[in-house]
Amino acid sequence: MNRKKMYIKTIGCQMNVYDSDQMAQVLKHKNYESVGLYSNADLIIVNTCAIREKAVQKVYSFLGRLPPLKKKNTGLKVVVAGCVAQQQGEQLIKRFPQVDIVLGTHAINQLPDLLTRLENDPSPIVKIAFSEEIYETALSSIALTQKLKVSGFVTIMRGCDNYCTYCVVPYVRGREISRKPEFIIKEIQMMVRAGLKEITLLGQNVNSYGVKESLTSFPDLLAMVNDIKGLERIRFVTSHPKDLSDQLIESFGKLNKVCNHIHLPVQSGANHILKRMNRKYTREAYLEKIEKLRAVSQDIGITTDFIVGFPGETEQDFDDTIGLMETVQYDSVFAFEYSDRPEAPAAGFSDKIEPEIKHHRLQRLFKLQKEITRKNHQSLVGKTFSVLIEGASKNQLKNISPSSTVELSGRTSENRIVNFSGAHDWGIDIDSLKGQTVDVEIVKAFSNSLFGVLSKYPVEYFKPEGSHSHVA
Ligand code: SAH
Ligand code: SF4
Ligand code: F3S
Repeated sequence: MNRKKMYIKTIGCQMNVYDSDQMAQVLKHKNYESVGLYSNADLIIVNTCAIREKAVQKVYSFLGRLPPLKKKNTGLKVVVAGCVAQQQGEQLIKRFPQVDIVLGTHAINQLPDLLTRLENDPSPIVKIAFSEEIYETALSSIALTQKLKVSGFVTIMRGCDNYCTYCVVPYVRGREISRKPEFIIKEIQMMVRAGLKEITLLGQNVNSYGVKESLTSFPDLLAMVNDIKGLERIRFVTSHPKDLSDQLIESFGKLNKVCNHIHLPVQSGANHILKRMNRKYTREAYLEKIEKLRAVSQDIGITTDFIVGFPGETEQDFDDTIGLMETVQYDSVFAFEYSDRPEAPAAGFSDKIEPEIKHHRLQRLFKLQKEITRKNHQSLVGKTFSVLIEGASKNQLKNISPSSTVELSGRTSENRIVNFSGAHDWGIDIDSLKGQTVDVEIVKAFSNSLFGVLSKYPVEYFKPEGSHSHVA
């Protein structure tokens, strides 16, 4: 039987990447195969994000391109999933009649049944009810598609109860709810069996994992994941500073697989802005946590998120943010201009900041971070790091590295990207190198990455099992 073609476009955070993967896996068992072009697909799924207005606009413009395709292929089905689906429900069908299914964030696992329903009755379907229960998707299929991947995501909790005043997530993802540890562990074990080496645990606030349901605490879950044989690295996002416990900080020193990196979004360096954001920590409390982290691991990689131009942010408040950046010296930062979300309380705050000012502040922030990163990267030249190889470097893929060398790419435990050469004599297929961990000496610093060379002759690492290396 001919397989149907599905195309999944994913916008938004890693949770959406994880959900898209789950949808793809379940649909593979329903006779769908993934294709790289949406123009010849029988099913188009757009998994959406509502965090800022720009992300929503991206969805609209994508949907706007679909009517001619529907005319050409009358069997084509269009699904809008994720946060914009949840936010807008019925409205999406009214505005875009080319949409067949609006799949809310709690309905992902219903997709196969809804597609079957559509075969018998073409009327559009909207599924945006929130459920109190967390669903477990069919795990049996995971091993099939994770092959060849070095690193993967596992969602450990859904939703958010923090209600930061700018944020849409609590309204589109619902209440915070944690998955049972046994499901998480089983899923990671399956991924490791399929060859995966690094796992990133996902949640809007992983630090409060299990608290509501009186399950295992997050540090204890980390210890359980640390015990999984064959797994080499553990990462997690996102940590909310208010819930970053001493026990979790100590995990960085105690658990050998937990990577030497934390993403700790601060949002602003000004106390009265943090208060208006409902972040529930002060600048001082945040800085204290940074100190504790550095006491456990001096060279820990620290990254963050900022929102600039939050309603009421004065020049002085923004200077406080700049000052905090200078104090912390982040490895890298994500920063965004504040965007009104109709559901969130800050949309109703009166003292909004002019777009030009927001833009100017964002540029100033990025300029400073660029200098910090450059200095930081420069200080790493001459040092050697363990790098987990993810595959060919971007240069290699674009074919612009010198032709006699194979340039590979991976990450350090601190989450820094390292491209490196030294592979020219190997004659080994790049795919077979993915997932190996090698020592790389940094020889050059760039603003977004580091460049290095293998610090030992590669045969040390890549000898076939059971054979002897002839190189000293
Ligand atoms: N749960 C995570 C953040 C998830 S959203 C946390 O609490 O840190 C990712 C980032 O998007 C946020 O950290 C914030 O910096 C940004 N963001 C969220 N809402 C925004 C808005 N309305 N305008 C601009 N940026 C926003
Ligand atoms: Fe949004 Fe705050 Fe929840 Fe993060 S913690 S998802 S910023 S409400
Ligand atoms: Fe966006 Fe939804 Fe994630 S709003 S950031 S896709 S939780």
